Amino acid sequence: MKKVLSILLVLVLVAALAACGNGAQDTPAPVDDPTPTPDVAPPVDEDPPADDTPANDGTLRIGFSQIGSESDWRVGNTESVRQAVADAGWELIFNDANQQQHNQIQAIQDFITQGVDYIVLAPIVETGWDSIMMDVAEAGIPLILMDRSIDMPNQEDYFVSWVTNNFEDEGRRAGEWLLDFLEEEGRLGDDINIVELQGTVGSGPAIDRAAGFREIIGGHANLEITQSQTGDFTTELGMQVMESFLGRASAEGRPIDVLYAHNDGMALGAIQAIRDAGLVPGEDIIIIGVDAVLLAFEAIVAGDMNVTVECSPLLGPTVVQVIRDIEAGITPEQIIFSDVRVFDETLSLIFPDRYLSAADDLPNRVY
Ligand code: AHR
Repeated sequence: MKKVLSILLVLVLVAALAACGNGAQDTPAPVDDPTPTPDVAPPVDEDPPADDTPANDGTLRIGFSQIGSESDWRVGNTESVRQAVADAGWELIFNDANQQQHNQIQAIQDFITQGVDYIVLAPIVETGWDSIMMDVAEAGIPLILMDRSIDMPNQEDYFVSWVTNNFEDEGRRAGEWLLDFLEEEGRLGDDINIVELQGTVGSGPAIDRAAGFREIIGGHANLEITQSQTGDFTTELGMQVMESFLGRASAEGRPIDVLYAHNDGMALGAIQAIRDAGLVPGEDIIIIGVDAVLLAFEAIVAGDMNVTVECSPLLGPTVVQVIRDIEAGITPEQIIFSDVRVFDETLSLIFPDRYLSAADDLPNRVY
């Protein structure tokens, strides 16, 4: 009897174990189980690539973090990059940061996540990039700095090339033009009150254009910068700040002789404020701008503005060439400057080797 009971117990245990085995069939296969599970896995070639999946047809994907669209210069710069990348047959992933550094940092973070092949960055200000630059370096994505500069320890280790303009030289050229112009007018020894509309606070062009201009006029104690304030590179603020410059100049009894604007957009806004104050722009106040945009050329030809120093926004083809070089295994130059040219309708007639005619070049303006 004992023997029969033992046999029955063994049979019950075997049945129980078999039941457990059936239950296990409903649980997911271990991750390293090589057995395919066709009911769950999607058919691979029917699924289109997700947006953030790198193209696998050899097309390069370029993430471009642009500052915003604060000026005609900036709009021309964006168009130049768009066109050059399209001409190269590559994909551009564009982000407009609306003048906010945190938006640029977020855009770069997104580019890293999307695994772009190259990043092009036009940084709004010089500082505050350390952490995101380290992230880009860690991701192994080549970064091309375009237009403005950055300021961080060992900064040259964080970009493959900087495609730009020489902002300090632009400031110097503006100062030299002023000295030449005052000399031609016989006023170089007079007391001259200068007001300055600066660009975005903390940006490379604002810092360098201010420094270059001061370097040149610094040797002339009779040339004084009486008021200086940012107009954030916009026409609207250029007009508002000029209104306040004029108000203070009149209250203090110190008339303004010269306006030095860090870009043409602000100069054009200021021209409106000067007119509204009953003064004649270009005559009562000498007006100096930077950028060489079409509207400034028209203002110079009309006699409302005196001079503009060129800062080319047409950097797209050079950026594309840098990428082509890297793809071909060629190390690009670390800094690539565009030429600085100065356009007016007065000194260019006297010193054609130093200054160029705005009227002559007007048909060539594309921004
Ligand atoms: O960084 C270049 C400057 O930015 C241009 O002079 C100005 O117009 C723009 O907004």
